[in-house]
Amino acid sequence: MSKKLYIETLGCAMNVRDSEHMIAELNEKDDYVLTTDSKEADLILINTCSVREKPVQKLFSELGVFNKSKKEGAKIGVCGCTASHLGKEIIKRAPYVNFVLGARNVSKISEVLHKDKAVEIDINYDESDFAFKDFRSSAYKAYINISIGCDKSCTFCIVPKTRGDEISIPTDLILKECQKAVESGAKELFLLGQNVNNYGRRFSGEHEKVNFTELLRRISKIEGLHRIRFTSPHPFHMDDEFLEEFASNPKICKSMHMPLQSGSSKVLKEMKRGYTKEWFLNRVEKLKSMIPDVGLSTDIIVAFPGESDEDFADTMDVVRKVGFEQIFSFKYSPRPLTEAAEFTNVVDEEIGSERLFALQELHNEILDQKVQEQLGRVYEVYFEELRADGYVAGRSDNNYLVKVKGSEELLGTLADVKITKVGRASLVGEIL
Ligand code: 5AD
Ligand code: SF4
Repeated sequence: MSKKLYIETLGCAMNVRDSEHMIAELNEKDDYVLTTDSKEADLILINTCSVREKPVQKLFSELGVFNKSKKEGAKIGVCGCTASHLGKEIIKRAPYVNFVLGARNVSKISEVLHKDKAVEIDINYDESDFAFKDFRSSAYKAYINISIGCDKSCTFCIVPKTRGDEISIPTDLILKECQKAVESGAKELFLLGQNVNNYGRRFSGEHEKVNFTELLRRISKIEGLHRIRFTSPHPFHMDDEFLEEFASNPKICKSMHMPLQSGSSKVLKEMKRGYTKEWFLNRVEKLKSMIPDVGLSTDIIVAFPGESDEDFADTMDVVRKVGFEQIFSFKYSPRPLTEAAEFTNVVDEEIGSERLFALQELHNEILDQKVQEQLGRVYEVYFEELRADGYVAGRSDNNYLVKVKGSEELLGTLADVKITKVGRASLVGEIL
């Protein structure tokens, strides 16, 4: 009889894909099938994130709960970014954990499973051309990794220390995966990397030098593919060639994640982001001139060390000027192994909370106005999710969440929808 696997995935889309890879490997090599009940699982995996401090603290309390409630003899494994950064310390603090597997080592899941107390966290390990078996959590869209690791050195970010140097996955391997996913029914491909538009920077071994713009061109030729999305691009690498391909290629969805982090050129320099406020605004302007309806989302950190009132005002200024559809906003959290953790000009906790609140208030105001403007608009929606309340939900090209009354026949189809009701979280419409 098959064994049961319970997996909890925290963090970003990279982790979601890594979990899919581990599920596929465990299924193929060790006959595990998924369960949503941790109490009946033979193996409990937590795929962790370490980008901020909170999820790391949560990990240990969760591990304790799993250890008490798990089935007798069940194994517990800790994977992902926190596994990379804490390594054997995890087993020291939670001795019942059976193995620790880093974010850069997921291809070794079957190996560590059979070695009690194994700790595999080598961030120089190269799994860029490892052909994972297939598992997809959605029948309608497929996540495809295009690179591993990150070569940037943003001073706030722990990721280069957990995922290692950047290596691009060979183009032919990506194209094969994309083709396979489309043949099995995915109309949308979601390309993933820490810094996608730096694709082609470094391959392991001899490979044709293909950049991200060219990769997009090649993927878009796949027949039966309707939509391409990707995350995360870096504002520094948003050259004209890339933005023009983004605008003119009909298969590329017109929504872009542009992680601003700060609107102050001074803070951006301290963060080592490689661009200025002016460059960021210039890129947004270029995008909007080519695609007036472009959907924009961003990540913003407030209260980075040394952030003054004027610096924060610059961030608010950019937010006002751009009018992002979605903002992921965070209070700066010092992370081990990062440069900024040594900075002494820390911003007062309370000021940080006030800034976060002010930013979120401003965003809500902008969003309220934006969604009002959507009334009566028509969007092509790709339906992906059946809701319990009799609605089916999907995304517009520019990434609005749109719901219509309907049933499962709509899943996996594209249709034009007229927007009849609007809210911050989603739009409601009728199929034309
Ligand atoms: N503190 C707060 N937020 C952070 N992020 C990354 N590192 C930190 C940190 N030390 C945010 C960035 C990044 C997102 C994934 O998480 O905004 O884009
Ligand atoms: Fe993803 Fe970064 Fe969190 Fe790792 S630390 S899971 S790369 S967000």
